[in-house]
Amino acid sequence: MNQFLKHSGVEYPIIGGPMYPCSNPELVAAQSAAGALGIIQPLSLTYVHGHDFREGLKYIRTLSDKPVGFNALIEKSTRKYHERMANWVDIALEEGVRFFITSLGKPDWVVERVHACGGVVYHDVSEKKWAQIGVDCGVDGLICVNRRAGGHCGEMTAQQLYDACAGFDKPMVCAGGVSTHQDLQAMLDIGYQACQLGTRFIASQECKVSDAYKQAIVDAHEDEVTTTYKMTGIPVSIIKPDFVELEQLKVTGIIGWMLRSKRFKRLARVLLSVKTMRNLKTAIHKKDKQSEFWMAGKSVAGVHQVLSVREIVKQLMDEK
Ligand SMILES: Cc1cc2nc3c(=O)[nH]c(=O)nc-3n(C[C@H](O)[C@H](O)[C@H](O)COP(=O)(O)O)c2cc1C
Repeated sequence: MNQFLKHSGVEYPIIGGPMYPCSNPELVAAQSAAGALGIIQPLSLTYVHGHDFREGLKYIRTLSDKPVGFNALIEKSTRKYHERMANWVDIALEEGVRFFITSLGKPDWVVERVHACGGVVYHDVSEKKWAQIGVDCGVDGLICVNRRAGGHCGEMTAQQLYDACAGFDKPMVCAGGVSTHQDLQAMLDIGYQACQLGTRFIASQECKVSDAYKQAIVDAHEDEVTTTYKMTGIPVSIIKPDFVELEQLKVTGIIGWMLRSKRFKRLARVLLSVKTMRNLKTAIHKKDKQSEFWMAGKSVAGVHQVLSVREIVKQLMDEK
Protein backbone atom coordinates (compact mmCIF):
# COMPACT_ATOMS: atom_id res chain seq x y z
CA MET A 1 0.00 0.00 0.00
CA ASN A 2 1.01 3.59 -0.64
CA GLN A 3 2.86 4.63 2.53
CA PHE A 4 1.71 8.22 2.29
CA LEU A 5 -1.97 7.23 2.20
CA LYS A 6 -1.36 4.96 5.19
CA HIS A 7 0.45 7.68 7.12
CA SER A 8 -2.09 10.42 6.35
CA GLY A 9 -5.36 8.48 6.28
CA VAL A 10 -6.58 10.39 3.21
CA GLU A 11 -8.10 9.08 -0.01
CA TYR A 12 -5.87 10.65 -2.66
CA PRO A 13 -2.09 11.14 -2.99
CA ILE A 14 -2.47 14.93 -2.88
CA ILE A 15 -1.38 17.45 -0.26
CA GLY A 16 -2.80 20.97 -0.18
CA GLY A 17 0.53 22.61 0.63
CA PRO A 18 0.82 25.09 3.51
CA MET A 19 0.91 28.66 2.21
CA TYR A 20 1.66 31.89 3.97
CA PRO A 21 -0.51 33.96 3.49
CA CYS A 22 -2.92 31.95 1.32
CA SER A 23 -3.90 29.06 3.65
CA ASN A 24 -7.21 30.28 5.03
CA PRO A 25 -9.04 27.69 7.15
CA GLU A 26 -11.86 27.26 4.61
CA LEU A 27 -9.30 26.25 1.97
CA VAL A 28 -7.62 23.72 4.27
CA ALA A 29 -10.96 22.20 5.24
CA ALA A 30 -12.11 22.02 1.61
CA GLN A 31 -8.91 20.21 0.60
CA SER A 32 -9.45 17.61 3.29
CA ALA A 33 -13.16 17.30 2.58
CA ALA A 34 -12.29 16.60 -1.07
CA GLY A 35 -10.07 13.64 -0.11
CA ALA A 36 -6.67 15.39 -0.17
CA LEU A 37 -4.65 16.42 2.90
CA GLY A 38 -5.08 20.10 3.78
CA ILE A 39 -2.18 21.52 5.76
CA ILE A 40 -2.61 24.27 8.35
CA GLN A 41 -0.07 27.10 8.11
CA PRO A 42 -0.22 28.55 11.65
CA LEU A 43 0.90 32.12 10.87
CA SER A 44 -1.58 32.29 8.03
CA LEU A 45 -4.37 30.97 10.28
CA THR A 46 -3.66 33.40 13.13
CA TYR A 47 -1.86 36.50 11.87
CA VAL A 48 -3.43 36.79 8.40
CA HIS A 49 -6.87 35.26 8.83
CA GLY A 50 -7.37 36.38 12.42
CA HIS A 51 -8.15 33.16 14.29
CA ASP A 52 -7.00 32.17 17.74
CA PHE A 53 -4.94 29.06 16.99
CA ARG A 54 -7.00 26.46 18.92
CA GLU A 55 -10.30 28.03 17.89
CA GLY A 56 -9.10 28.02 14.27
CA LEU A 57 -8.42 24.28 14.47
CA LYS A 58 -11.85 23.68 15.98
CA TYR A 59 -13.40 25.82 13.23
CA ILE A 60 -11.71 23.68 10.55
CA ARG A 61 -13.14 20.61 12.31
CA THR A 62 -16.66 22.08 11.96
CA LEU A 63 -16.12 22.29 8.18
CA SER A 64 -14.57 18.84 7.69
CA ASP A 65 -13.89 15.90 9.97
CA LYS A 66 -11.32 14.40 7.56
CA PRO A 67 -7.58 14.43 8.46
CA VAL A 68 -5.62 17.70 8.29
CA GLY A 69 -1.91 18.33 8.76
CA PHE A 70 0.18 21.05 10.39
CA ASN A 71 3.20 22.96 9.08
CA ALA A 72 5.86 23.59 11.73
CA LEU A 73 8.39 26.17 10.54
CA ILE A 74 11.25 25.37 12.86
CA GLU A 75 14.03 27.62 11.63
CA LYS A 76 16.35 28.58 14.48
CA SER A 77 15.09 31.94 15.57
CA THR A 78 14.35 33.67 18.88
CA ARG A 79 13.41 31.72 22.01
CA LYS A 80 10.02 33.39 21.94
CA TYR A 81 9.36 32.15 18.38
CA HIS A 82 10.43 28.61 19.31
CA GLU A 83 8.17 28.57 22.37
CA ARG A 84 5.22 29.77 20.31
CA MET A 85 5.82 27.10 17.64
CA ALA A 86 6.26 24.38 20.30
CA ASN A 87 2.99 25.48 21.90
CA TRP A 88 1.22 25.29 18.52
CA VAL A 89 2.60 21.79 17.93
CA ASP A 90 1.25 20.70 21.34
CA ILE A 91 -2.16 22.27 20.70
CA ALA A 92 -2.34 20.67 17.24
CA LEU A 93 -1.62 17.28 18.85
CA GLU A 94 -4.24 17.89 21.55
CA GLU A 95 -6.76 18.75 18.82
CA GLY A 96 -6.11 15.46 17.03
CA VAL A 97 -3.68 16.46 14.23
CA ARG A 98 -1.37 13.53 13.46
CA PHE A 99 0.43 14.59 10.25
CA PHE A 100 3.18 17.20 10.55
CA ILE A 101 5.37 18.86 7.94
CA THR A 102 8.54 20.47 9.26
CA SER A 103 10.27 23.16 7.23
CA LEU A 104 13.87 24.33 7.73
CA GLY A 105 15.91 23.51 10.83
CA LYS A 106 16.36 20.29 12.81
CA PRO A 107 13.06 18.50 13.38
CA ASP A 108 14.16 16.23 16.29
CA TRP A 109 11.97 17.87 18.93
CA VAL A 110 8.89 17.77 16.68
CA VAL A 111 9.50 14.10 15.88
CA GLU A 112 9.77 13.27 19.58
CA ARG A 113 6.46 14.92 20.48
CA VAL A 114 4.56 13.68 17.42
CA HIS A 115 5.79 10.08 17.64
CA ALA A 116 4.81 9.99 21.32
CA CYS A 117 1.21 10.58 20.14
CA GLY A 118 1.39 8.08 17.28
CA GLY A 119 1.68 10.69 14.51
CA VAL A 120 4.08 11.14 11.60
CA VAL A 121 6.49 13.87 10.50
CA TYR A 122 7.47 14.61 6.91
CA HIS A 123 10.39 17.00 6.43
CA ASP A 124 10.78 19.59 3.63
CA VAL A 125 14.00 19.05 1.68
CA SER A 126 15.52 20.59 -1.41
CA GLU A 127 18.87 18.75 -1.25
CA LYS A 128 20.23 15.44 0.00
CA LYS A 129 22.00 17.07 2.95
CA TRP A 130 18.70 18.37 4.42
CA ALA A 131 17.14 14.95 3.90
CA GLN A 132 20.04 13.41 5.83
CA ILE A 133 19.41 15.78 8.75
CA GLY A 134 15.69 14.93 8.73
CA VAL A 135 16.32 11.18 8.55
CA ASP A 136 18.89 11.41 11.37
CA CYS A 137 16.17 13.11 13.45
CA GLY A 138 13.78 10.21 12.76
CA VAL A 139 11.32 11.74 10.26
CA ASP A 140 8.88 9.38 8.51
CA GLY A 141 8.86 10.91 5.04
CA LEU A 142 10.31 13.62 2.82
CA ILE A 143 8.62 16.52 1.00
CA CYS A 144 10.95 17.08 -1.95
CA VAL A 145 10.81 20.72 -3.02
CA ASN A 146 12.03 21.08 -6.60
CA ARG A 147 12.99 24.00 -8.83
CA ARG A 148 9.46 24.46 -10.24
CA ALA A 149 7.82 24.98 -6.84
CA GLY A 150 5.91 28.04 -5.70
CA GLY A 151 7.09 29.72 -2.48
CA HIS A 152 10.69 28.87 -1.54
CA CYS A 153 11.87 26.73 -4.42
CA GLY A 154 14.74 24.29 -4.71
CA GLU A 155 17.41 24.05 -7.38
CA MET A 156 16.96 20.47 -8.57
CA THR A 157 14.45 18.94 -10.96
CA ALA A 158 11.89 16.52 -9.55
CA GLN A 159 13.81 13.59 -11.06
CA GLN A 160 17.21 14.76 -9.73
CA LEU A 161 15.82 15.24 -6.22
CA TYR A 162 14.13 11.85 -6.33
CA ASP A 163 17.38 10.17 -7.38
CA ALA A 164 19.33 12.05 -4.69
CA CYS A 165 16.99 11.06 -1.84
CA ALA A 166 15.58 7.65 -2.86
CA GLY A 167 18.39 5.88 -0.96
CA PHE A 168 16.90 6.98 2.37
CA ASP A 169 14.02 4.58 1.73
CA LYS A 170 11.37 6.97 3.06
CA PRO A 171 8.09 7.83 1.33
CA MET A 172 8.71 10.86 -0.88
CA VAL A 173 6.27 13.59 -1.86
CA CYS A 174 6.94 15.82 -4.87
CA ALA A 175 6.44 19.55 -4.21
CA GLY A 176 6.55 21.77 -7.27
CA GLY A 177 5.28 21.99 -10.80
CA VAL A 178 2.12 19.90 -10.48
CA SER A 179 -1.26 21.28 -11.51
CA THR A 180 -2.76 18.69 -13.90
CA HIS A 181 -3.54 14.98 -13.89
CA GLN A 182 -0.65 14.41 -16.32
CA ASP A 183 1.79 16.22 -14.00
CA LEU A 184 0.61 14.16 -11.02
CA GLN A 185 0.83 10.87 -12.90
CA ALA A 186 4.33 11.70 -14.18
CA MET A 187 5.53 12.22 -10.58
CA LEU A 188 3.89 9.00 -9.37
CA ASP A 189 5.61 7.21 -12.29
CA ILE A 190 9.00 8.51 -11.10
CA GLY A 191 8.31 6.88 -7.73
CA TYR A 192 6.90 9.71 -5.63
CA GLN A 193 4.02 8.55 -3.43
CA ALA A 194 2.13 11.84 -3.53
CA CYS A 195 2.34 15.45 -4.70
CA GLN A 196 2.10 18.66 -2.68
CA LEU A 197 0.41 21.52 -4.56
CA GLY A 198 0.26 25.20 -3.74
CA THR A 199 -0.22 27.37 -6.83
CA ARG A 200 -3.13 25.33 -8.27
CA PHE A 201 -5.10 25.76 -5.02
CA ILE A 202 -4.62 29.53 -4.89
CA ALA A 203 -6.77 29.70 -8.04
CA SER A 204 -9.67 28.02 -6.24
CA GLN A 205 -13.01 29.39 -5.12
CA GLU A 206 -12.24 28.62 -1.47
CA CYS A 207 -8.91 30.50 -1.33
CA LYS A 208 -9.51 33.97 0.12
CA VAL A 209 -7.04 35.98 -1.92
CA SER A 210 -8.14 38.72 -4.30
CA ASP A 211 -9.57 37.86 -7.71
CA ALA A 212 -6.62 39.78 -9.20
CA TYR A 213 -4.17 37.29 -7.66
CA LYS A 214 -6.18 34.28 -8.89
CA GLN A 215 -6.48 35.80 -12.37
CA ALA A 216 -2.74 36.50 -12.48
CA ILE A 217 -2.16 32.75 -11.95
CA VAL A 218 -4.73 31.82 -14.61
CA ASP A 219 -3.18 34.29 -17.11
CA ALA A 220 0.50 33.63 -16.43
CA HIS A 221 2.77 31.70 -18.74
CA GLU A 222 5.45 29.67 -16.97
CA ASP A 223 8.17 31.83 -18.54
CA GLU A 224 6.81 34.77 -16.52
CA VAL A 225 7.58 32.91 -13.28
CA THR A 226 10.97 33.87 -11.93
CA THR A 227 12.69 34.05 -8.54
CA THR A 228 13.66 36.88 -6.26
CA TYR A 229 15.73 37.13 -3.05
CA LYS A 230 13.86 40.32 -2.21
CA MET A 231 11.14 38.74 -0.11
CA THR A 232 13.05 36.56 2.37
CA GLY A 233 16.71 36.53 1.32
CA ILE A 234 16.35 33.08 -0.26
CA PRO A 235 14.82 32.45 -3.69
CA VAL A 236 11.03 32.75 -3.83
CA SER A 237 9.06 32.06 -7.02
CA ILE A 238 6.90 34.91 -8.27
CA ILE A 239 4.99 35.96 -11.35
CA LYS A 240 6.99 38.88 -12.75
CA PRO A 241 4.68 41.66 -13.93
CA ASP A 242 5.60 43.39 -17.22
CA PHE A 243 6.23 46.70 -15.45
CA VAL A 244 8.96 45.22 -13.23
CA GLU A 245 12.48 44.89 -14.65
CA LEU A 246 14.59 41.90 -13.61
CA GLU A 247 17.08 44.35 -12.08
CA GLN A 248 14.37 45.49 -9.66
CA LEU A 249 14.11 41.96 -8.28
CA LYS A 250 17.69 42.07 -7.02
CA VAL A 251 18.51 42.98 -3.42
CA THR A 252 20.74 46.02 -3.35
CA GLY A 253 22.11 48.46 -0.76
CA ILE A 254 22.92 47.58 2.82
CA ILE A 255 20.59 44.55 2.92
CA GLY A 256 22.20 43.21 -0.28
CA TRP A 257 25.59 43.60 1.35
CA MET A 258 24.36 41.87 4.52
CA LEU A 259 22.97 38.96 2.49
CA ARG A 260 26.41 38.41 0.95
CA SER A 261 28.19 38.54 4.30
CA LYS A 262 28.55 35.35 6.33
CA ARG A 263 28.08 37.23 9.58
CA PHE A 264 24.95 39.23 8.74
CA LYS A 265 23.17 36.89 6.31
CA ARG A 266 20.74 35.54 8.91
CA LEU A 267 19.87 38.98 10.21
CA ALA A 268 19.23 40.21 6.66
CA ARG A 269 16.87 37.27 6.08
CA VAL A 270 14.96 38.00 9.28
CA LEU A 271 14.63 41.70 8.38
CA LEU A 272 13.40 40.94 4.86
CA SER A 273 11.00 38.22 6.05
CA VAL A 274 9.39 40.37 8.72
CA LYS A 275 8.78 43.17 6.21
CA THR A 276 7.42 40.71 3.63
CA MET A 277 5.11 39.04 6.14
CA ARG A 278 3.52 42.39 6.90
CA ASN A 279 3.27 43.36 3.23
CA LEU A 280 1.76 40.03 2.16
CA LYS A 281 -0.92 40.20 4.81
CA THR A 282 -2.48 43.14 2.99
CA ALA A 283 -1.23 42.42 -0.53
CA ILE A 284 -3.36 39.29 -1.02
CA HIS A 285 -6.48 41.42 -0.76
CA LYS A 286 -5.34 44.10 -3.23
CA LYS A 287 -7.60 44.41 -6.21
CA ASP A 288 -5.13 46.12 -8.53
CA LYS A 289 -3.38 43.57 -10.72
CA GLN A 290 -0.51 45.88 -11.49
CA SER A 291 0.35 46.82 -7.92
CA GLU A 292 2.06 43.62 -6.80
CA PHE A 293 4.06 40.65 -7.85
CA TRP A 294 2.37 37.44 -6.82
CA MET A 295 3.97 34.33 -5.36
CA ALA A 296 3.40 31.29 -7.60
CA GLY A 297 5.32 28.47 -9.21
CA LYS A 298 5.85 27.21 -12.75
CA SER A 299 2.73 25.05 -12.38
CA VAL A 300 0.79 28.15 -13.51
CA ALA A 301 1.28 26.44 -16.89
CA GLY A 302 -1.59 24.04 -16.17
CA VAL A 303 -4.00 26.46 -14.48
CA HIS A 304 -6.64 27.82 -16.87
CA GLN A 305 -9.63 28.42 -14.64
CA VAL A 306 -10.61 29.22 -11.08
CA LEU A 307 -12.41 26.09 -9.85
CA SER A 308 -13.74 24.71 -6.58
CA VAL A 309 -11.28 22.61 -4.58
CA ARG A 310 -13.45 19.54 -5.18
CA GLU A 311 -13.29 20.10 -8.96
CA ILE A 312 -9.52 20.58 -8.80
CA VAL A 313 -9.02 17.32 -6.90
CA LYS A 314 -11.34 15.48 -9.30
CA GLN A 315 -9.40 16.82 -12.30
CA LEU A 316 -6.09 15.85 -10.72
CA MET A 317 -7.37 12.30 -10.21
CA ASP A 318 -8.97 12.33 -13.69
CA GLU A 319 -12.35 11.49 -12.18
CA LYS A 320 -15.55 12.53 -13.94
C1 LIG B 1 2.12 31.66 -1.97
C2 LIG B 1 2.83 30.46 -1.44
C3 LIG B 1 3.16 30.42 -0.09
C4 LIG B 1 3.80 29.30 0.46
N1 LIG B 1 4.06 29.25 1.81
C5 LIG B 1 4.61 28.14 2.35
C6 LIG B 1 4.76 28.02 3.76
O1 LIG B 1 4.41 28.90 4.53
N2 LIG B 1 5.32 26.87 4.25
C7 LIG B 1 5.72 25.85 3.43
O2 LIG B 1 6.23 24.84 3.92
N3 LIG B 1 5.56 25.93 2.08
C8 LIG B 1 4.99 27.03 1.54
N4 LIG B 1 4.77 27.09 0.18
C9 LIG B 1 5.08 25.91 -0.66
C10 LIG B 1 3.83 25.03 -0.88
O3 LIG B 1 3.40 24.45 0.31
C11 LIG B 1 4.10 23.93 -1.94
O4 LIG B 1 5.15 23.10 -1.53
C12 LIG B 1 4.45 24.53 -3.30
O5 LIG B 1 3.55 25.55 -3.62
C13 LIG B 1 4.40 23.45 -4.39
O6 LIG B 1 4.65 24.02 -5.63
P1 LIG B 1 3.48 24.52 -6.64
O7 LIG B 1 3.20 25.92 -6.23
O8 LIG B 1 4.11 24.40 -7.97
O9 LIG B 1 2.29 23.62 -6.48
C14 LIG B 1 4.14 28.21 -0.38
C15 LIG B 1 3.82 28.28 -1.75
C16 LIG B 1 3.16 29.37 -2.28
C17 LIG B 1 2.80 29.39 -3.75
